[in-house]
Amino acid sequence: MSPALSPLLFINIVLFLFFLHTVSSVPAYPVNGTCRDTCGTISVKFPFGTGSGCGHPDFARYIKCNSESLEFSTGTGIYSISSIDYTSNSIIVTDPFMSTCSSMQNSGSFSLDRASPFSITEDNIIVLLGCSGTSPVFDADEDLCATGSGSRVCRGLYSCKGVSGIGLQQNAPASSCCVYDSPTGLGSGYALDLPKLQCSSYTSIYGFGGNEGDPMKWKFGISLQYNDSYTSDACNDCENSGGSCGFTGLDESFACICRNGRNSTTNCFGIGYALSGTWGPKVQIKLNPAGNSLKCNSIKKDRIRCPVAVAVAVAVAVISSLVDDDTLYLKQRRYKIFGGMRELRLIFLGVLLVLATLQVASSHGDQPLSRIAIQKATFALNDLAYVKASPSILGSSGRNSEWVTVEFSSPTPSVDDWIGVFSPSNFSASTCSADNPRVYPPLLCSAPIKFQYANYSSPRYKSTGKGWLKLQLINQRSDFSFALFSGGLLNPKLVAVSNKVAFTNPNAPVYPRLAQGKLWNEMTVTWTSGYGINEAEPFVEWAPKGGDPMRSPAGTLTFDRSSMCGAPARTVGWRDPGYIHTSFLKELWPNAVYTYKLGHKLFNGTYIWSPEYNFRASPYPGQNSLQRVVIFGDMGKVCQNILIRSNLSTALIVEDIIVSGYVLCVSTLPYVSLFIDILQDEADGSNEYNNFQRGSLNTTKQLIQDLKNTDIVFHIGDICYANGYLSQWDQFTAQIEPIASTVPYMIASGNHERDWPGTGSFYGNMDSGGECGVLAETMFYVPAENRAKFWYSTDYGMFRFCIADTEHDWREGTEQYKFIEHCLASVDRQKQPWLIFLAHRVLGYSSGISYAVEGSFAEPMGRESLQKLWQKYKVDIAIYGHVHNYERICPVYQHICTNEEKHYYKGTLNGTIHVVAGGGGASLSEFTTLQTAWSLYKDYDYGFVKLTAFDHSNLLFEYKKSRDGKVYDSFRISRDYRDILACTVDSCPSTTLAS
Ligand SMILES: [Fe+2]
Repeated sequence: MSPALSPLLFINIVLFLFFLHTVSSVPAYPVNGTCRDTCGTISVKFPFGTGSGCGHPDFARYIKCNSESLEFSTGTGIYSISSIDYTSNSIIVTDPFMSTCSSMQNSGSFSLDRASPFSITEDNIIVLLGCSGTSPVFDADEDLCATGSGSRVCRGLYSCKGVSGIGLQQNAPASSCCVYDSPTGLGSGYALDLPKLQCSSYTSIYGFGGNEGDPMKWKFGISLQYNDSYTSDACNDCENSGGSCGFTGLDESFACICRNGRNSTTNCFGIGYALSGTWGPKVQIKLNPAGNSLKCNSIKKDRIRCPVAVAVAVAVAVISSLVDDDTLYLKQRRYKIFGGMRELRLIFLGVLLVLATLQVASSHGDQPLSRIAIQKATFALNDLAYVKASPSILGSSGRNSEWVTVEFSSPTPSVDDWIGVFSPSNFSASTCSADNPRVYPPLLCSAPIKFQYANYSSPRYKSTGKGWLKLQLINQRSDFSFALFSGGLLNPKLVAVSNKVAFTNPNAPVYPRLAQGKLWNEMTVTWTSGYGINEAEPFVEWAPKGGDPMRSPAGTLTFDRSSMCGAPARTVGWRDPGYIHTSFLKELWPNAVYTYKLGHKLFNGTYIWSPEYNFRASPYPGQNSLQRVVIFGDMGKVCQNILIRSNLSTALIVEDIIVSGYVLCVSTLPYVSLFIDILQDEADGSNEYNNFQRGSLNTTKQLIQDLKNTDIVFHIGDICYANGYLSQWDQFTAQIEPIASTVPYMIASGNHERDWPGTGSFYGNMDSGGECGVLAETMFYVPAENRAKFWYSTDYGMFRFCIADTEHDWREGTEQYKFIEHCLASVDRQKQPWLIFLAHRVLGYSSGISYAVEGSFAEPMGRESLQKLWQKYKVDIAIYGHVHNYERICPVYQHICTNEEKHYYKGTLNGTIHVVAGGGGASLSEFTTLQTAWSLYKDYDYGFVKLTAFDHSNLLFEYKKSRDGKVYDSFRISRDYRDILACTVDSCPSTTLAS
């Protein structure tokens, strides 16, 4: 073995052991109802809990209820908590060996763990008693003992009878007493080391009980302040429903512990289990490897980041311990650890190998823009700082996407300086509408449309103060400016603003989206522009290829901030959506190719045109021809790179390391603590794209590459994960333009489009970021009777698609249930034999770990309600998203496989084949380790499915990975019309013996 490899092996072993330990200590859901709201006489509320899995994980290791006594644990022992004041965020801890007026004794030490969320409050007067004359506290140079009032406190204590307990006589001289001046403000990590201080006892007074002269009335105890930033909407929601906030799983993700026998990830109102959620509250896991502190900010669903950070931190800790001495300064340490590129590569390769091993579950993440506390921004404008952007005019060649070079300089550069891209360019609060509650006092009220760290392309920015970035902009109806901020993302300080940059025509019609109309021979074209109905007439000019052009008018929709249901869509995430136009191209000839372009006739008579596009009209329902359909869910916006950033001040850029098809870049950040984060980027590396959609770019690329062999696309929910940051919808429609402008791009509604509490969504979570469906229902056309109820049917040749809306109730007796039954029942299977059911959430079967934890292996109430319809109407295939992986189920009815064949189904299926195709791009979801009898093929990877109908009797199903477009799973169905008509279980038509 080469010597260079041994550290790598060691790191991996350590990490593996660490992982094993983590797995073995995964807290399960607490038993229902075991999270109590009292312990003895003390009320226990979030963030505290009464046991494992209760309260916030940061507190659970310090606080628990033991035999009706609430206990506080720290490195020096276990102490009882005598009271909690939730208004001042403080607790009073009693040390049984601490002295009081009535009882004095030799005490032990007291310390607070450095990583604990507690600190000593300023209310405490810590008094050291019985100290030797050589105690360092009496060192004249240190001046550690308070005089004046301190002397009075000492005299008061020494007047107590109890002083005999430490070997002193009552009213002894107070020269061995010290009112210790140091503890306040020291925060966590504070230690009162009595042996070192050469004192026999200590006491803590947190109040004089209204009588400073009577020490018997003084309040003895240690008052500790705790961090109050843990409260969250999710927890409030849970508590309001009667539940207790807790946590579960490897990532200690939020769990609502219900008393009624059911725990959930949302609340206890019976709305039930939701796979995803928007998690404003941050779960903080703090580690302390190698003496440095690591803060791992993790959003609940962003499960990969913390374990990754932990893994990397442990790796660095190990390396530190191998090569370093604690007494060395960080500069020396840095030099030693990362003295050579070879070692650095090995370290990160080690980390990557472990990451590959971990395969941490990860279903949803936060919207990166939500990490910026823009409403807290302050002005720190500096005349010596500048930001310059060029070119200032974009799109002169008609392009709607351009690269801009941004140069900047700061006299006080820092590693967490960042550049925000704002559009419109005037982003001060003066542009906020009056009803925006964030107008005052914030100086800024709009999130940037993207951002990047100042040292991203300029690793020496910290020392030189100069940097540059190349950023890609798309035409989004407004001009742009670039702003340099210091203070990181959480305390942004505006240092400098650039010149303005604008496309030649910001209002230009852009990003056409085709969709099936309500009739088979109708194609709709939806696009976005900056032209309202008072400025221009929108229309589509179109023609059969080589034929005479004709024009169809377009309708225009828009909406304002008041249409949004909550923040951030209604506040910092709001951005004017412009105008969304839809034109209906009717009476198309089946399969004919048409060209089209978008037009606006200005009232001064001039025309504004888009480039020319083309599409192929849909086949006549029942038409026997080759028909190819692509289906996937949960794609989101593109990202290209995974960026690992470390807080090491030396400028080190590691050559790209290709692992599993992804480019990993390592750039640098500052000193002291290690900070590892994983970000994923769009083409320009900027951060505004969702940090978990690493497969999105690959999926988009594969769809474009195979577009000639694709007739229609279904994106079944969780479209772009804008989560209330409206600028992201433009960027998503730009991303899919090559696809959506060429073939019908049909969408379904997912939780990230629709869910918002109190707005009629079936699930009461906040996944839409306040959009409550408005963006999806306006930006895309679907042939629904009412787009606010997002269920519809559409025919494509030999296919009938019934698209359900899982964000609205589907159960028997509902409006949607009636629709589903009508859609399934009304198709003539001789003409359209291929009956496909689509929905966002898994209503059928999934081995996704979260559904497995629930024991339902699907959305609760999904199968129970709908399986009799699927069976009765002989649905061939039901396809879902929401769970970010691929899984194929046998033809199944009531959990039983109705056919043992796996790849070639001949004759009757006797059951519906269920498929999860949620690997469009959002970070992958783990499978349960349970072997589910009905599961035929599972793939933890990104991909999509393709259905090819060759004729009325032959259908090919393929699953393709996004990384290479190759087929990894497939099956065929061959059958005749009589096989569809045949009698099967629960779908046998009535017959009579009469003739
Ligand atoms: Fe979803």
